[in-house]
Amino acid sequence: MSSRNLKSGNAFIDENHKGLLENIDVISVSVRDNWDRQEFESNVRWFIVDLENHFSHEEVILKAAGFAELDEHSVKHRELSLRLRMDSIYTQNFDDSVRFLGTLRSKIFSHELFEDQSYWPLFDKETEDAKLLIRWSAELETGDPEMDKHHRALVNHINRLHMQLCASTDKRFACAELRLLHEYSKFHFSEEEHSLGEKLRPGHRANHELLLIDLDRVIEEVDAGKYALPTIGDYLKYWLINHIQTFDIPSFSRND
Ligand SMILES: [Fe+2]
Ligand SMILES: [Fe+2]
Ligand SMILES: [Fe+2]
Ligand SMILES: [Fe+2]
Repeated sequence: MSSRNLKSGNAFIDENHKGLLENIDVISVSVRDNWDRQEFESNVRWFIVDLENHFSHEEVILKAAGFAELDEHSVKHRELSLRLRMDSIYTQNFDDSVRFLGTLRSKIFSHELFEDQSYWPLFDKETEDAKLLIRWSAELETGDPEMDKHHRALVNHINRLHMQLCASTDKRFACAELRLLHEYSKFHFSEEEHSLGEKLRPGHRANHELLLIDLDRVIEEVDAGKYALPTIGDYLKYWLINHIQTFDIPSFSRND
């Protein structure tokens, strides 16, 4: 089965999936050609880290896109990574490693290729309006002029960055810009928490933290050359917009 068959409609997720499948191939070749226990263990450890990062990004995007079965899907992610962690502990020799890789391949394929298909329809409309990544609209307004100014600034920054990334292959530039976005967002989040004060709902601050942690992981991966830069926009737009809609707007519209 070719990894080219994986097409969710979200370029960032597609790139993640492609990377995971290629990684399995690389590990398989290294086992076949020259099995070394230490190298195998470290490859598998890194693969699982990579996979868990992917799950985290995918959950951020799916939540933002309003995926109705996100909870069940996230449970599958947890089960899969736990199962792989357990199995990898019992992999001690060449035969175990070959067996482990067989299970790994089939588990990853059946999740990334089949179970993940349940959210593909979410991205069906994606392709047409690709030029301007995020269009500002009244639906994104919180009613708080200062925070709306911040949000608009973040949207503009993401739109501009996406345009630059579409024309660039410079990952250093991409990382530097993403770090700026991280910094701006961190500043915005703390201003917003301050401004909301008592109105800050449970989970809001935690979601700010989660967004920053997940963005940090993406930056590390971009730095390692993991993504074609034009795909990053497909992550960033979901990263910000859902948070505004789920947490910011309801919080600011509360009058108590
Ligand atoms: Fe996935
Ligand atoms: Fe998934
Ligand atoms: Fe917020
Ligand atoms: Fe906000």
